[in-house]
Formats: sequence, C-alpha cells, structure tokens
Amino acid sequence: MDWVQPDQKDQTFQGRGRHGSMIARSPLFEEYQAGHVMIGPSLLAADFRYLAREIERLEAAGARFLHLDIMDGHFVPNLSFGIPIVQAVRKATRLILDVHLMISNPEAHIERFREAGADYLTVHIEVAPDPRPLFEMIHRTGACAGVSLNPPTPVEAVIPYLNDCELVLVMSVMPGFGGQSFRPEVLPKIRRLRQLAPDGLMISVDGGVNGQTIGQCAEAGATMFIVGTGLLGHDNYSQRYRELAALVKDHQSKVAL
Ligand code: DX5
Ligand code: ZN
Repeated sequence: MDWVQPDQKDQTFQGRGRHGSMIARSPLFEEYQAGHVMIGPSLLAADFRYLAREIERLEAAGARFLHLDIMDGHFVPNLSFGIPIVQAVRKATRLILDVHLMISNPEAHIERFREAGADYLTVHIEVAPDPRPLFEMIHRTGACAGVSLNPPTPVEAVIPYLNDCELVLVMSVMPGFGGQSFRPEVLPKIRRLRQLAPDGLMISVDGGVNGQTIGQCAEAGATMFIVGTGLLGHDNYSQRYRELAALVKDHQSKVAL
C-alpha cells in the first residue's frame, strides 16, 4: 500500500494525526465508505485442502477482504498457520488481507508478514500495553495497523491509541479457537468505541459472529464483521454472505451512524 504525503492524500481519508508527516490510506475504510458491507471471512474455518478454491468462492460471494488468524501456541493456547500460508493466500487473491496476530512477540514478525502480503496487521493490547512503537513499525512497512482487545480487557486500555491506528478489533470470544459462542458483554465496548472513534477508524468484531449475533454487532456500531464458522460452516457461501449482509444493513439502518 502506498504512503502519501498529507497534501497528496486521498480526499476520502483524512488521516488522523499519526506520528510524523506520513499518512496511510486505509483501503478497508475506503471500501466501507463506498457502501460495502464489510464481512470478513476468517480463513481459519476454511478447508485447507482446497484453499485457493475456498478463496475463489468467498470472493465470488462478495467478500471485500479476508481475515487471517495467526496463533503462536503461547499468547493463545493453539497454533494455526504462519507466513507461508499468508504468502499463498496473497498469490491466490487481490483481496485486502487483514492479518490478526495472536502472538506474544509481534515485533519479531511484523516485517515478514508484511512482505508475505498482509495489508493490515493487528496486534493485541495485552502484549503491548503501549502499542505505538508497533504501529510505527507497521506503518513503516506500508501496512495499516490495528489493535485488538480480549473480552476481559477493558476498553479504556485502547482508548489512548485510537488516533494512531486504522482498526480496532474487539474480540467477542477468548482468542484461540473458531466456533465459540459470542459474548454479548462485549457489546458496550463496541458502543463506546463507536462514540469515540475518530473518522476513518474501523471497528471490527471477531468471534462467534453469525446470523444470530451479527445484527447486535451492527447495531452497537461495528463496521467490520469477522465470520468464520458462521459463513464457512455453510454450503452456499453466496447465499449465506447475502443473508449476513442483509442483517447488517437492516440493523445499521436502525441506528444513526
Ligand atoms: C478466534 C479468531 C477468530 C475465529 C472466528 O481466535 O480470532 O477470527 O476464526 O471464528 P468464528 O467465527 O467461528 O468464531
Ligand atoms: Zn481473528
């Protein structure tokens, strides 16, 4: 992704006072602003025997981006996949790649995930109580930066950094495994973030998002919806994607956003 000087920046994205004079575009925000419903399939729920085919099906269903869960068996009690899979996904699609780093030492790997093709790199506040140096590292690579918080972490932990990144990822399950039940107690965090979010900041929700829960997330003010089993657990991705998108639109229209 290109970095542009503030005076050349895309008019649709105003930038939000990051450190230094460089301002990044935020392609996810641009897609959102263009009116797309931002449902991000989580590849963790894909059939890895046929990954390229899965990606084609998701793209055909209307996905504007893909969510990739990186787990290190340390920050979370599970391992998923790493750089070679991100590289393979990058070769299979031009969709925006939203990479969620559930790892204890993101600083050691950020550059290589970017080289592998990540467009967004999200780090956890629990491993980086002041994430600004990581955001700077991510921005230097040309990627957009995100910060994530687990269900027990208070929203206050991320509030000081909302001007310094492009994405905040609210975990609605304890990270580590797909297919868990949504925790409705995180909805007030989404509401609070919606009130405080500077223009251009995406608010993403991840974990247990499906046909039963996506509406509540939209109503609370989430602007991105990460869906694993709630989409890939169904045979017809296009139909399911349309149904989820309709629920988002229906609930977003109930609130003044
Ligand atoms: C959980 C991951 C999620 C996961 C969501 O640790 O961060 O992205 O894939 O899966 P579902 O939608 O099945 O809860
Ligand atoms: Zn995730």
